[in-house]
Amino acid sequence: MKALTVTPGTRDSARVREMPDPPEADGPILVRTLAVGVCGTDHEIVDGAYGEAPPGEDHLIIGHESLGRVEDAPDGSGFTPGDLVVGIVRRPDPVPCANCAAGQWDMCANGRYTERGIKARHGYASEHYRIHPEFAVRLDPALDRVGVLMEPTTILAKAWEHVESIGHRAAWSPRRVLVTGAGPVGLLAALLGVQRGYDVRVLDQVSSGPKPQLVADLGASYHTDLQDVDADADIIIECTGAGSLVLDVMTRSARNAVVCLTGVSSGSREVGVDVGGLNRGMVLENDVVFGSVNANRRHYEQAAEALTRADRGWLERMISRRVPLERIADALDARDDDVKVVLDLEAG
Ligand code: BGC
Repeated sequence: MKALTVTPGTRDSARVREMPDPPEADGPILVRTLAVGVCGTDHEIVDGAYGEAPPGEDHLIIGHESLGRVEDAPDGSGFTPGDLVVGIVRRPDPVPCANCAAGQWDMCANGRYTERGIKARHGYASEHYRIHPEFAVRLDPALDRVGVLMEPTTILAKAWEHVESIGHRAAWSPRRVLVTGAGPVGLLAALLGVQRGYDVRVLDQVSSGPKPQLVADLGASYHTDLQDVDADADIIIECTGAGSLVLDVMTRSARNAVVCLTGVSSGSREVGVDVGGLNRGMVLENDVVFGSVNANRRHYEQAAEALTRADRGWLERMISRRVPLERIADALDARDDDVKVVLDLEAG
């Protein structure tokens, strides 16, 4: 079968090549891949900066934001041919740690988890893949092609769940939310914030392209300068990982704020920080800053519900380009007005 592979650690090694059919050991459900989203993590893997091949192999099939249709599923698996499905990314570590044992592999405590398309396990950018039922999530058929947004939505479903559980350490009535970055992660953070009834402000550096309108259509406000954001926020979801912005947003948190960092910074960058001032502010205002990555099955279910409630046309507009798998180089070539680029495995 055709698959999109990289040689981890080698820059620009992404190729569409013939790979063996998926092994039965991957699970009894056979899925035909319809589409795979491309994200910052994929760019890092293609740049040779991240990613790990399965043990004993040179290549890694990438792709972790999947959408597929079940072709074959055994009786009693809970799936039937024709079901629209998304594959969960992470698999528990083999020990397993207390979190993985409880199905909370997103909180794996020893780092020995694997991730499809990222860490030591083949991903979904292949014509077919196999999966065990506990790692496949069925989607409302009405979502159709926008179902490819499910995996990035799970990242925000988890982030929001954790923000709210931290917030409930005290009586808490948050109103204002600040989201930094209007890429797919930021837009989905804003969508979930609006769905919760919050007053959402989104900060991004671009003033043209589809982002301002996408934000406006959610009923949120769009800003290109942190100083123009009119009030400090009770909740901040940072989605850029851009060093200085990560620190700057902390100066815009209200008392008792919860700040969630979701952006993985690429490389290291030194910025001068007044650690004493930052500490003083956080202590005297009871602020919490925490990081959030990945998602467990519960978050996939929350994300499926959030997508079903969202405006289908708006979700469709988030997908700025659909590119056939063979034109991977095109898909990876970032354009100014890109929001989410999707590899289309049905085209071509
Ligand atoms: C994926 C997560 C994954 C993380 C770190 C993200 O792009 O969406 O599922 O845990 O990368 O590998």
